[in-house]
Amino acid sequence: MNLSHATDAPCSADELTATPSKGLLRFITCGSVDDGKSTLIGHLLYATKTLLEDQLQALKGDSRRFGTQGEDLDFALLVDGLSAEREQGITIDVAYRFFATTRRKFIVADTPGHEQYTRNMVTGASTADLAVILVDARKGVLTQTRRHSYLVALLGIRRVVLAVNKLDLMDWSHETFAQIEHDYRDFATKIGIDHITAIPLSALRGDNMTAHSANTPWYTGPSLLHYLEDVDVDVESEGPLRMPVQWVNRPNLDFRGFAGRILGGSVKPGDRIRVLPSGKTSTVARIVTFDGDLDIAQRGQSITLTLADELDISRGDVICAARDPAGLADQFEATLIWMADTQMLPGRPYLVKLGASTLPASFGHPKYVVDVNSLDHLAARTLALNEIGVCNLTLDRAVAFDPYADNRDMGSFIVIDRFTCQTVGAGLLHFALRRSQNIHWQTVEVDKQARARQNGHKPCVLWLTGLSGSGKSTIANIVERQLHALDARTYLLDGDNVRHGLNKDLGFTAADRVENIRRIGEVAKLMVDAGLIVITAFISPFRSERRLARDMVQAGEFVEVFVDTPLTTAEQRDPKGLYRKARSGELKNFTGIDSPYEIPQAPELHIDTLTATPEEAAAAIVDYLIHTGIVRARQESAHGLPTGKPRDGDTQT
Ligand code: ADX
Repeated sequence: MNLSHATDAPCSADELTATPSKGLLRFITCGSVDDGKSTLIGHLLYATKTLLEDQLQALKGDSRRFGTQGEDLDFALLVDGLSAEREQGITIDVAYRFFATTRRKFIVADTPGHEQYTRNMVTGASTADLAVILVDARKGVLTQTRRHSYLVALLGIRRVVLAVNKLDLMDWSHETFAQIEHDYRDFATKIGIDHITAIPLSALRGDNMTAHSANTPWYTGPSLLHYLEDVDVDVESEGPLRMPVQWVNRPNLDFRGFAGRILGGSVKPGDRIRVLPSGKTSTVARIVTFDGDLDIAQRGQSITLTLADELDISRGDVICAARDPAGLADQFEATLIWMADTQMLPGRPYLVKLGASTLPASFGHPKYVVDVNSLDHLAARTLALNEIGVCNLTLDRAVAFDPYADNRDMGSFIVIDRFTCQTVGAGLLHFALRRSQNIHWQTVEVDKQARARQNGHKPCVLWLTGLSGSGKSTIANIVERQLHALDARTYLLDGDNVRHGLNKDLGFTAADRVENIRRIGEVAKLMVDAGLIVITAFISPFRSERRLARDMVQAGEFVEVFVDTPLTTAEQRDPKGLYRKARSGELKNFTGIDSPYEIPQAPELHIDTLTATPEEAAAAIVDYLIHTGIVRARQESAHGLPTGKPRDGDTQT
């Protein structure tokens, strides 16, 4: 149960073995910025004497100098001070704090409360048994409260403490407390949070934090600390064995171990296992650890397994119980929680990290997004920051998985931007799409190579990219004419033309442009397979989709040509009068004006249209094709007319 692939909790359950009577409790605190979360955690650390004497002295000094609480200790300063350095642009960032009483040990995931830190909250919640949801008594249940609750429920937490804080500022009003509790229950029970304990608090003054407060004679429940000490948490069922291989340990020819963390079930020497995706089976020989061999290893433990047979296993493979293996699929329905400022665009290539595998992936159109206030399902074309939606996920290849409901580790993933390497989303797998098992590749007998031989040239994509009015279409036309004269088989796909047919349904939003280029990439790929030299002339403003189109064909088959015209020049030319319309506000989302163009970083060809005429540009492209051996130069015949070189195909029957 851990989405925190980027930052693991610094301490694992087995490291804190000597737990007192009650087991370890992992919980998360969620709240908006000023709800008093830092104060609440600071108070717990103080009350359980977790603070060192020097931290306490520093806190006393800081409280006097910077605090907002007069002579009293300002606990918020403590936790905020501890976290100051982590608030600077780190991808996923949760501080895990430890404290203990004589009855129990605790790990609390402290996550920054700003909206943009939803991702931290998700990370913290994915390892927690319980959530403390803070509400400012003056403000009541807010959208943020609902979003956090929805997320914790989604991540499998069924037990919540509703900490109604700052009730001192409402004169300890029982009605206020009761109203907030009522509002919250009304919402939370609908999303599957079935254990709710509401506690009236002043985290600052300490009321009901560690002992019953005289200010709330009407409250008969436990103090926060007593509740946390006493609560029984559901132990997740062990399930069948799952161990993604993190590392193949092969120090010498006699030893071959597979290292990883057990994410489900347990394992003993002699157990039959099955490795996914290969499906091969074997028997566990030894369980090796630093401190000697084990007779049994359980969920959460990091171990090295050796097997009775020599199987070819690599990083990312999953060792499962032979009789109850994980599923294997490359298409899923999933809940996706979007965490980036840039929206999720269907069809865009991302990286997905699932278990020990990181692989290219893309999402389909959202089936719906959830309105976290009304819980309504809304239609959407993309997912924006903090939105939660359901969509299909397609991976580059099949991986082992379990639905999130069965195994939190095997059914969760994070989404990484391919260019910035930032974590942009997190998701939970529902189930594999049946179509992923039922569609197979048909082998065909006449293949690309056979067609290339017949054509006398290799196929490729000439991908022209640049601003509207940069001259792509003009250059593409000349290139096609020249290639035709060289007897090459060509096809020109042009932005304006394709948008009259195949892509008639698409406009110019970022999502539509992604889909436009994705389809063109697929069409170009088919045409390359058909043996053609495909020339495309699309603005194709985004790096991600140009990369997607490149990855669809083989190395050497994609020639990116940057038709580089400065915006000012394109705007002066304005052949279709579109820049004028865009400047006047008549045309929205116009590339270069109010929609971005991401310059190619390493195109095969860079054409500066300020110095090269369209003819020169076309000649440079054709020269490139000749030099790289894609087409052959024309041979002059005896009478000076072009003949074209005899094609391989001509000599064949
Ligand atoms: S792309 O961005 O999705 O690659 P594409 O090359 O298909 O665009 O289409 C661009 C052509 O559509 C432009 O040359 C222009 O004639 C026309 N067009 C109409 N509206 C826009 C717009 N908002 N932005 C860019 N081009 C537009």
